[in-house]
Amino acid sequence: MFKIDGKKTAATLREKLKKKISELKSTYKAIPGLTVILVGEDPASKIYVKNKEKFANEVGIKSEIVRYPNTIEEKTVLNKIKELNEDSNVSGILIQLPLPKHIDKRKIIEAILPDKDVDGFHPVNVGNLSSGYDSMIPCTPLGCYLLIKDIEKDLNGKHAVIIGRSNLNGKPMAQLLLKENCTVTITHSKTKDLRTECKRADIIIAAVGRPKLVRGDWVKKDAIVIDVGINKTDSGLVGDVDFDEVSKVAKAVSPVPGGVGPMTIACLLSNTVECFKKTRSN
Ligand code: GUN
Repeated sequence: MFKIDGKKTAATLREKLKKKISELKSTYKAIPGLTVILVGEDPASKIYVKNKEKFANEVGIKSEIVRYPNTIEEKTVLNKIKELNEDSNVSGILIQLPLPKHIDKRKIIEAILPDKDVDGFHPVNVGNLSSGYDSMIPCTPLGCYLLIKDIEKDLNGKHAVIIGRSNLNGKPMAQLLLKENCTVTITHSKTKDLRTECKRADIIIAAVGRPKLVRGDWVKKDAIVIDVGINKTDSGLVGDVDFDEVSKVAKAVSPVPGGVGPMTIACLLSNTVECFKKTRSN
């Protein structure tokens, strides 16, 4: 078994982006810009946003964070998005989730121009991805996909089992793997026999938020196992996969931390560069 090194793969991707951004700077006399909107005081969100800013600056992306208190009116956020949509210095807009309950997440996501939607959450991007057209791709599944492709170039006919059907991870992950001619099973909380489903998989992607759910005897020999889970427990941060058990049977397993997490941020930077190119070519 080998331990997938998400930190290293993400660092390689960031190096490539740094070069690309420096070329874009010479061509367009401008650099990609990413604006993150953070509403409220969610501690995890604050850490994510800080990391996003740090790595954006490192590769040469101009990063800005717009902070609002928890009590902010929806209209104020919508007006800000309108302003950012019209600002040619802003290539990508990210609304950090979760949002407070009084703000309609759907309305907010739909207010972002699809070409500035670095998260790939806008229905236009979701539709394009599921139709197999060019689209912005959500950062976490994109990161998982790149990790898988790094191990196995040819995914034709592989059976992939995804645990979790969220719009952020499970559903877009399925689309990416279908494009690679995988046979995809999406499982969820109502799935009858999760273990049996997993046992058939060549590739497992666990994105469900249940600490160490995937055990060693759920995994076929030489499967690839990608762990998207980030669960806070009394014994620290753990994923959705029992790493010690699964690493005894799998070909490759991504650890938590140090697996998917760094790739998600690197893919956000990559998506910002994609948005920059889209807004320049229009
Ligand atoms: N909160 C947790 N994950 C994400 C993500 O991928 N994008 C955004 N915008 N917020 C998140």
